[in-house]
Amino acid sequence: MMLCSPLLGALLTIVAGCLCLLKLLRHRGPREPPLDKGLVPWLGHAVAFRKNMYEFLKRMWAKHGDVFTVQLGGQYITFVMDPLSFGPIIKDTQRTLDFTEFAHELVLKVFGYRPMDGDHQMIHSASTKHLMGQGLEDLNKAMLDCLSLVMLGPKGPSLDASCWHEDGLFRFCYSILFKAGFLSLFGCTKDKAQDLLESEELFTKFRRFDLLFPRFVYSLLGPREWVEVGQLQRLFHKRLSVEQNLEKDGISNWLGYMLQFLREQGIDSSMQDKFNFMMLWASQGNTGPTCFWALMFLLKHQDAMKAVQEEATQVLGEGRLEGRKSFAFALSSLKHTPVLDSVIEETLRLGTSPTLLRMVQKDCVLKMDSGQEYQIRRGDKVALFPYLSVHMDPDIHPEPTVFKYNRFLNPDGTRKVDFYKSGKKIHHYNMPWGSGVSICPGRFFALSEIKIFVLLMVMYFDFELVDPNVPVPPLHPRRWGFGTSQPSYEVRFRYRLKPMHAVSS
Ligand code: HEM
Repeated sequence: MMLCSPLLGALLTIVAGCLCLLKLLRHRGPREPPLDKGLVPWLGHAVAFRKNMYEFLKRMWAKHGDVFTVQLGGQYITFVMDPLSFGPIIKDTQRTLDFTEFAHELVLKVFGYRPMDGDHQMIHSASTKHLMGQGLEDLNKAMLDCLSLVMLGPKGPSLDASCWHEDGLFRFCYSILFKAGFLSLFGCTKDKAQDLLESEELFTKFRRFDLLFPRFVYSLLGPREWVEVGQLQRLFHKRLSVEQNLEKDGISNWLGYMLQFLREQGIDSSMQDKFNFMMLWASQGNTGPTCFWALMFLLKHQDAMKAVQEEATQVLGEGRLEGRKSFAFALSSLKHTPVLDSVIEETLRLGTSPTLLRMVQKDCVLKMDSGQEYQIRRGDKVALFPYLSVHMDPDIHPEPTVFKYNRFLNPDGTRKVDFYKSGKKIHHYNMPWGSGVSICPGRFFALSEIKIFVLLMVMYFDFELVDPNVPVPPLHPRRWGFGTSQPSYEVRFRYRLKPMHAVSS
C-alpha cells in the first residue's frame, strides 16, 4: 500500500504530462479551422489577447478569415466572426455546446458562489416573472422612487439644488444608477438618509472591485491586489448577508423569489450571501456605465439631444418639480419613446462588448452560412465577439464608429429591425445582451432604468460639458469582452436642477 502511492503519483504525473504534451503538439486536423498557437508554448496568444482583445481579434480575423482557433493559456478557442453563421451556435441545434460549466467555475472564483444544477433555469424563471410584464411595472415604480431619493435627497430638493454642480460624468451616472438600482432590488429600511449613506459606501467598494475585476478574472493581480480582492469579497458577503438584511422593506420580488428557492434547496445562509453578491454584480455592473455613454453621446450630438427632449416633452409634458419631493413621471410613457429607444440601442451598439462562450462537449461540425463545414474538437471552446463582427461591420451598420441617434428608426418613426449583411437579412444585428441560453435576463429592467434616468436628466436638469470640445473617450482596452465598456478617462460636466416653478396657491 505504502508503495502504491508514489507509484500512482508517478503514473498520474506521466499521464498528465502526456496530455499536456498532446495539447502542446496539437496540429490543425483535416477540415478543422485555421489553428494559431502563437509563439509561446501553452500561453499562446494570451498576453496579446488580455492586453487588447479587440485589436488582437481584428488581426486574427484579417489573417485567417471568418473562423479560426487560437491558443490562449492552454485552452483552444474557436472564434466565429460571420454573423450569418451564428444561428446554429446560439440555438445549439446539435446540443453539443454548454454554457454552464465554465460559468460555474467563474462565479466560484469571482463571487465565492458554488452554483447548483438548476440555478440557471431558476434565475431565468425569476426574471421572466419579476423583470418583465407586470412584475417589471412594479419594479419600475420602485426604481423611480429610488432615483428620486438618490437624485433629490431624502427631504426633496435642497435650497441650493438649482445651483450648478461639477462632477465626473462617469462617476455621476454610475453612482446614481448603482445606489438606486441596489435599493430597489435589495430593499430599503425606514431610515432613508442612512440607506443613502450605506449605498454610497457600498458603491465605493463596488467600484474598487470593479476596477480589479478584469485582471482578477484573468488571474493577473499582484499579491497586494489578491489580498484586497479577498477582503472586498468578504465585505460584500457580510454587507449583503441575508441575516443582516432581514428587517429591510421592499426587497424585490425578483431577489426574494431566488433566495426562497435557494432556502428550499437547503442552501446554507453563507452561500446565499455569496449568491447576493453575484446578483449585485450582474445587476449593477453595466447599467451605470451605459447611462454614461448615453449622456455622453447626447451631449456631443445636439441634434440627438434636441430630438430626445422634444419626444420627452411630447410624452411626459414639461418637467416641473413645483416644490414636490419627487419627480412627477408617468411610467406608462416608457412605451412611447421610439427616439430614445433608438438612442439607447445605438449607445449599446457602441458601448457594449460581451463575449459569448460555449464549451464543446463532443466533437462536432460547425456549419457556416457559406456551406463550408469545420470539425470542432471536444474540450475546446467556441466564442462569438459581436462587437467586432456585428456592431462594427460597415456592411450591417454603415459608418460603424459614428453615433447616429436614428440608426434604429425607420423614416416613419417606428423601430427599425431590418438590417442586412451581403444582401441577406440578418437576425443578430445588435447583441449587447448576449444571445440564446445565456441572454441577459435583466435586459428589460435595464432598459427601463436607463430610460427613466435619461428622461429625468433631460426633463428636470440642465447639464453641459465643462469643455465642449472634449472628445468621446475611447473604450477602455482592458475591458473588452466584459459587457458594457468603461471610458478610458473621466469627462467633467456640470449640472443643475432646472429652476423650480413657484407652488401655485
Ligand atoms: C445595460 C445593462 C446590462 C447589460 C449590457 C447586460 C449584459 C449581460 C450579458 C451580455 C449577459 C450574458 C453574459 C454571458 O453570456 O455569459 C448578462 C447576464 C446576466 N445579467 Fe445582464 N446586463 C445588464 C443589466 C442587467 C440587470 C439590470 C440585471 C438584473 C436586474 C441583469 C442580470 C443578469 C443576470 C442574472 C445574468 C446571468 C444570467 C445567467 O446566469 O444566465 N443584467 N447580462
